[in-house]
Amino acid sequence: MTTPPVCNYEGSDYQTSFWEQGGREYEDRAEAIALRRLLPKSGKLMLELGAGAGRNTPRYAGFEKIVVLDYSTTQLAQARQKLGRSTKYIYVAADIYRLPFRDQQFDAATMIRTLHHMADAPKALSQIQNILQPGAIFILEFANKLNLKSILRYWLGRQDWNPFTLESVEFVKLNFDFHPQAIRNWLKALNFTVEKTLTVSHFRLGILKRIIPPSLLAALDGIFQPSGALWQFTPSVFIKARKPSGSGARVIPLHVINLFKCPDCGNENLEAREEHIYCPTCQSKWAVHDGIYDFRQQMEST
Ligand SMILES: C[S@@+](CC[C@H](N)C(=O)[O-])C[C@H]1O[C@@H](n2cnc3c(N)ncnc32)[C@H](O)[C@@H]1O
Repeated sequence: MTTPPVCNYEGSDYQTSFWEQGGREYEDRAEAIALRRLLPKSGKLMLELGAGAGRNTPRYAGFEKIVVLDYSTTQLAQARQKLGRSTKYIYVAADIYRLPFRDQQFDAATMIRTLHHMADAPKALSQIQNILQPGAIFILEFANKLNLKSILRYWLGRQDWNPFTLESVEFVKLNFDFHPQAIRNWLKALNFTVEKTLTVSHFRLGILKRIIPPSLLAALDGIFQPSGALWQFTPSVFIKARKPSGSGARVIPLHVINLFKCPDCGNENLEAREEHIYCPTCQSKWAVHDGIYDFRQQMEST
C-alpha cells in the first residue's frame, strides 16, 4: 500500500527550539486553556496522534491509558523521558496513514499541530475514524489558512494564494494550512458531528508577545476562544468532533498486544515475541525497542 510522504522529525530539536527557546509560552498556555475546555474529565483509552515530545500529554491525565503515537522515535524517546515508563503510557512509532490498531477501541483521540503535515488530510482523518469507538470524541487542531494575517497579505498583494478558497495551501514542503470549511466538510463526510469550535492564538503578534506577559495574553485568548463558534480568523483552530454512537465498541484489552493489528495485512491476532511482535498471517516482524512499539517498517528478517 502506498501512503503519502511523512514529514520526518527524526533527530529534530523541535521541542527545545520551537517551544522552550522559541518564545511560545503564550501559544502553549492558550492551547492548554482550549484543551481544558474540550477534553472530558475522564476516560479509558486516549490516542494522541503526532504526540511529539509529549508537550500536551500530561493534559490528558484524566484518561486511564494514553497511547503516545508519533512517527519519530527520537520524539517518542523525549516524551518517554518526560512522562516516564508508567503503564499509563504506551509508546508507539507509526504512520498515521497506517495505524496499527484494531478498529473501534479508543474513546478519545487528539491530533494537535499534526494535521498540518498531512498531504492527504482526508485519508489521515479516515484512519482515525476507524479506530474510534462509536460515540468517541476527536479533538483536532489545524492551521487555518483563513487567518487575519493571510487575508491582509492577500489584499495587499503580498501573497499569491487565496485564503478564501477551500483547497489547502502548502506554504513550506509538507506544511499545510487548511480552510475551516474544508475541515468541516471532511469531518462531515466521515460522519463526525462538530460539537465545539474554538479559535486559538488570537494574539500571535511579536509586539504583543513582547509587551504582555504570556499568562495574561493567554487568559485574554481564553476569553475570545468561544467566538470560534461564529467565525474563525485565527492561525490555529481547535475542533471537538464526535463519532456517532452505535454498537460495535471493543472492550479495552488487558494486554497491550491486543490493542494492535498488523499494519500490513490487518491481522488482529499478533504474537508478542522477545523484542518484537510477530504477525502469523503475513510473517512480518515489528520491533519493540526501549519500550517503543515500532510499526513503521518491518524488521529485516535474519
Ligand atoms: C509540529 S509537531 C507537534 C507535536 C505535538 N503534537 C505538539 O503539539 O507539541 C508534529 C509531530 O507530528 C509527527 N508526524 C508528522 N507526520 C506524521 C505521520 N505521518 N505519522 C505520525 N506522526 C507524524 C512528527 O513526527 C511530529 O512529532
